Amino acid sequence: MAIFHLEVGADRLATLTFDSPDRKLNVFTRPALQELERVIEELSGRRDIGCLILLSGKPGGFIAGADVEEIARVTDPVEAEAGSRVGHRLFSAWESLPFPTVAAIRGVCLGGGLEISLASTYRVASDRPDTKMGLPEVRLGILPGWGGSTRLPRLIGIAESLDLILTGKTVVGRKALKLGLIDALLPDARFLDQVRDFALARLDKPRKEEGGIDLKEVLLEKNPFGRKVLFDQARKKTLETTHGHYPAALRAIEVVRVGIEDGPRAGFDAEARAVSELATSKTAKNLIHVFGLTEEVKKEKGLPGAEPREVKSTAVLGAGVMGGGIAQLISAETNLPVRMKDVRDEALASGMQHAAQIFDKAVERRRLTTPEARHKMALLLPTLDYSGFQRVDLVIEAIVENMGVKQAVLAETAQHVPEGAVLASNTSSLSIAGIGAKTPHPERVVGMHFFNPVHKMPLVEVIAPEGADPAAVNTVFAFTRKLGKTPILVKDAPGFLVNRLLMFYSVEALWLLDEGYKIEDLDRAMVDWGMPMGPMALTDEVGIDVATKVAHILHEAFSDRLPLPAWLDKAPESGRLGSKNKKGFYLYEGRERKAPDPAVYPLLGLQPRVESPDPGTIADRMVLPMVNEAARCLEEGVVRTAGDLDLALIFGTGFPPFRGGLCRWADQEGLGRIIATLERFESAVGDRFRPSEALRKTAEAGGFYARFGGR
Ligand code: NAI
Repeated sequence: MAIFHLEVGADRLATLTFDSPDRKLNVFTRPALQELERVIEELSGRRDIGCLILLSGKPGGFIAGADVEEIARVTDPVEAEAGSRVGHRLFSAWESLPFPTVAAIRGVCLGGGLEISLASTYRVASDRPDTKMGLPEVRLGILPGWGGSTRLPRLIGIAESLDLILTGKTVVGRKALKLGLIDALLPDARFLDQVRDFALARLDKPRKEEGGIDLKEVLLEKNPFGRKVLFDQARKKTLETTHGHYPAALRAIEVVRVGIEDGPRAGFDAEARAVSELATSKTAKNLIHVFGLTEEVKKEKGLPGAEPREVKSTAVLGAGVMGGGIAQLISAETNLPVRMKDVRDEALASGMQHAAQIFDKAVERRRLTTPEARHKMALLLPTLDYSGFQRVDLVIEAIVENMGVKQAVLAETAQHVPEGAVLASNTSSLSIAGIGAKTPHPERVVGMHFFNPVHKMPLVEVIAPEGADPAAVNTVFAFTRKLGKTPILVKDAPGFLVNRLLMFYSVEALWLLDEGYKIEDLDRAMVDWGMPMGPMALTDEVGIDVATKVAHILHEAFSDRLPLPAWLDKAPESGRLGSKNKKGFYLYEGRERKAPDPAVYPLLGLQPRVESPDPGTIADRMVLPMVNEAARCLEEGVVRTAGDLDLALIFGTGFPPFRGGLCRWADQEGLGRIIATLERFESAVGDRFRPSEALRKTAEAGGFYARFGGR
């Protein structure tokens, strides 16, 4: 079946429609590239065309880019380089067609999709809100290797290009127009007509001059010294944010420089060489693996056997840190009314204020207009009683972490909502079955565990207790997705999945502290390992009181496997709560975390005495207990697959994506080495390191992915 469809009108206007059969979005697969090559060959000989429009046959988007599965399979650097050169040859031929070309962008236009657009004479885009353009390659550990790294800076300048290429972020139509990335932004309602008009006006016109942007006009970019400053700054910033773990970004800076300074041909060569090394690297394979997991998880629907119910009206109990955040998210993402109930007026006021701040920021960043933000604020309905609850079909509880209080409040709430309403709890450590026990329909009480800060963290653990109504679970699952979050189904077990694993990591940090390691050494070792922040800084962020409470709950559940230092409660008891009261393991100035607080050691009765510790040992001490526990979680069915576990930890804690996930990292390290190290720690440090039977069985079965699946 043809992938490209050419139509040439009597008016010399031609359209080439890209329509990948059997796919929701157009992707440059190998067959698509081969067909495009034949089409370009034919086009270059056509004298009856005065202008050509490149269109997508897919309602959902323009072109999503290259086929990631094909990149995942490449292991030979020579083959990877050839793949890059195919794109260069094709898009250069496209660029040299004897008539002007117009890329008509509607919906997503990513990676290779934007690269062919850059090789087109003109780019126009629809103002449809889902029209987004970007070069996300660095997120997969590679770089734009079909001419994008070379052509984009010539069109929009170095600084703006680096911003797009190094972050992989996308821009909407308005922003693209401002950057000069597109030549016109057209109203979606009459998109095709207007594209035709745009093209007709350029019929048989000479092609635009090569080179796009006039480099002389850009002050900083016009001279070698200015450019050096730009590239040096980009390098410095990239090193600061990636700690050297994402080589693609550094490489992209170099490739852009070559393209600008030595010309397009040299730029393409640099792209191809970089792709050959990057695409075959372990980092790229791991990032592509994570990308695959995110695609896979989109297909999950929750429990089998029931469709989700439609949610038309919602309520959140508790307007605190989490409740306020959840209510804001609901109005931001779904446009549904959300009642926000608290027992204190001040809490409601601060919940509203918090939401207003987030919406103001969205207006500042042009993600929302002022009227849109106002409309969304109006959907938030603060209340001290249950008025309006008779219409609510999903309640999310986020009140104090106390079983008795939660049980009583949910039982009371059940009296005010319609029959069939779903009650969800955001508890981070209490049993969902316990929380629902006093309601008339415990089968409709489901866990919906968000992570802090709600508007940033992409994960929600959906907890289905024994005997849960699948329709209720799936309602929460589907609603989570509507909120733009990734739901992962987990069992109603202590700490669920993410907090359980994380606690084995954070408590081990406390034991290292107990042995005389310094706060800064622990945090630096883990940040260098790739964590977004070290364990001590994380405890400050979570709240030392909250973390201590969860530690006790999990210690009760796991006893000797998770022993706690005797001094654990001293910090919260002395009023050290972490960043929220600016008194934690660290000193704070305003909201900023400064140096570790030396007063912590005497308070806890500790002596910081380990000089020049080995970061590898520190990392093993904290990460291997998580691996050990991960095997137990999978064996107990707390989470369905190794892939789900990996994604949950990445999305819930920022576990480094370049490592591919905890299970994948462990598989790559070799479970034999991990078990041997755990045994060494067991005899040198303590019984808590004893390798679990689950881990041994996993090793025998050939690793986490071999035993528990997930891509
Ligand atoms: P918070 O203390 O900031 O907010 C709790 C709010 O609930 C307060 O405004 C309080 O006035 C209100 N409240 C108390 N009793 C109430 C009642 N009967 N009806 C209505 N409102 C009532 O607490 P935070 O941090 O927002 O935590 C709430 C829940 O979310 C807890 O279960 C916690 O374990 C969970 N959670 C917390 C996370 C965090 O990082 N803070 C992360 C994930 C879950």
